[in-house]
Amino acid sequence: MAQEIMQVSPLPPFMMKALQEADYVVHDHTHIKDPGALSKVTALIGTGSAKVDKKLLKMLPNVKLIAICGVGYDGVDVAAAKEKGIVVTHTPRVLTDDVADLAMGLVLSIGRRIPQADKFVRNGDWVDDAFALTHKVSGSRLGIVGMGSIGRAIAKRAAAFDMRISYTGREAKADVPYTFHKTVTALATDADYLVVAVPGGDSTKNLIGASVIQALGSKGYLVNISRGSVVDQPVLVQALKEKQIAGAALDVFWDEPLVDPELRRLHNVVLTPHIGSGTEETRRAMAALTLDNLAAFYQKKMLPTPVPEFASISS
Ligand code: 8YV
Repeated sequence: MAQEIMQVSPLPPFMMKALQEADYVVHDHTHIKDPGALSKVTALIGTGSAKVDKKLLKMLPNVKLIAICGVGYDGVDVAAAKEKGIVVTHTPRVLTDDVADLAMGLVLSIGRRIPQADKFVRNGDWVDDAFALTHKVSGSRLGIVGMGSIGRAIAKRAAAFDMRISYTGREAKADVPYTFHKTVTALATDADYLVVAVPGGDSTKNLIGASVIQALGSKGYLVNISRGSVVDQPVLVQALKEKQIAGAALDVFWDEPLVDPELRRLHNVVLTPHIGSGTEETRRAMAALTLDNLAAFYQKKMLPTPVPEFASISS
């Protein structure tokens, strides 16, 4: 019998195809035509930006799995899921390299002003003047907020650029050779580039606020590849306008895909549309892992990648 699942965010066409080929009946929660289907749905599937709150879970009495195609699952009310005996899975590791690659791309882009230089050539401005000098990335100081697998992958890349790496996190890691700072503010004081690589959610909301920005200073750059919620965005916009920091390169924002027009007007920013994991190869690997989690759940096997709150759980 075909299993009935519900998508709680848009999914890429190749993933829809794979789900159909695997014989799932996929309902779309925004366009549900058959309210009777709500009680038939046993699993939810969505990307890292999916919102699964108490209200939605209340409407779906038989859901027992939430399979997130993304490493971040801050849109899922995990406590509410747990209470209802619903397990949550995600897709760690397969996207680590891509996100770290983008972080380095953003460090280079904001430091060397690559997008602005591209625009300069396209606009024909080169004939009138030379492009203004930028700032050296190699050998500069990199501060990483969060030394999880993505933070480590960023550090590995930055080491090849001879950057002086330091980090902060819940605790110092015995197996990394970089300098540990107890607070984000202390880290920012010691960084030319401050890269945010912590998970989103309540515990990191507005972690990068006025004091961190002040500590980063007028020569410092902020790079965010984690979640928009980690940065106090209005405070950042103001700081960028007043040149309290040198610039910011952001892949994530409050209220995606709507980006504050004030931020879009600034010249000391590089903005990308949440593309950290957005390569053909990685998105396919993430989709495959999500389908593996679904299959394991229905076959009552050990789930390949439950979120840490459910580690070592089998369905
Ligand atoms: C995408 C992400 O948002 O993995 C995450 O947490 O933010 C991204 O990979 C998305 O989940 C892609 O499906």
